Amino acid sequence: MSSAEDERIAANVAQWTRTNAEFTDRDAERQWRDPQVYWGEFGTRDEWLGDVAGLDVVELGAGTAYFAAKLARAGARPVAVDPTPAQLDTARRMQEETGLRFPLVEAAAESVPLPDASFDLVISEYGASLWADPERWLPEAARLLRPGGRLFFLTMSTLAHLCTPDEDNQPIVNRLVRPQFGPWETRWAGYDGAEFHLSHGDWIRLLRANGFVIDALHELQAPADATTHEYYFVIPADWARRWPGEDLWECRKT
Ligand SMILES: C[S@@+](CC[C@H](N)C(=O)[O-])C[C@H]1O[C@@H](n2cnc3c(N)ncnc32)[C@H](O)[C@@H]1O
Repeated sequence: MSSAEDERIAANVAQWTRTNAEFTDRDAERQWRDPQVYWGEFGTRDEWLGDVAGLDVVELGAGTAYFAAKLARAGARPVAVDPTPAQLDTARRMQEETGLRFPLVEAAAESVPLPDASFDLVISEYGASLWADPERWLPEAARLLRPGGRLFFLTMSTLAHLCTPDEDNQPIVNRLVRPQFGPWETRWAGYDGAEFHLSHGDWIRLLRANGFVIDALHELQAPADATTHEYYFVIPADWARRWPGEDLWECRKT
């Protein structure tokens, strides 16, 4: 890893240690016990993963591992990978409380200490998909997958990013306020972590360069009765009813 990469990952770990103390540790209780698999801020029920029973799954940037826990309940064999010890501590506590056990690995998605071709499914639900360098984690996802294995990743939509003001946690506006052409890495004022935001064209190019075909891009829409999330209020529900606030990419390794 380069020193710039080390610095960025350390900044993300510091940020997520704070976020864990603020709310993700508290939220894990409810998320781990709810068996429903859903995507994103507005709870879109999954209709794309299909039957995951018996699949070897790795989640990159697994956080408190609630998503992996839901897949374990559905019969998958998940491994949860995340660089933030505090997030993994919460996952460990929830494993004790629920009896749902699977491996937890402390690592960044840029360099995953797991063997080649050992998974059927790679997931990133607002994990590596947003906080890891895509030029580093997509090759890792491809390496970890068996031929024909699938990759699902959810992140803030390209459009939402372009409509988000610079300051941390300012709600999205109804016009473009950021350039699309520019560095992928974004650091928000008032927030320590680094995020990566790509255009659809850049995602497609990078996915193809790493041997993926794209089966679908699901542009998630907030349902009519959705309300703005208590913490993740950067995407207001009324905005996400009109434009896609979150992009769910569904890919396959050729
Ligand atoms: C929103 S949480 C993930 C939510 C997750 N789906 C869950 O079930 O809790 C984002 C996670 O990304 C992790 N992260 C930050 N930088 C990362 C990197 N370079 N590689 C992998 N994960 C990273 C953070 O530690 C944090 O736990």
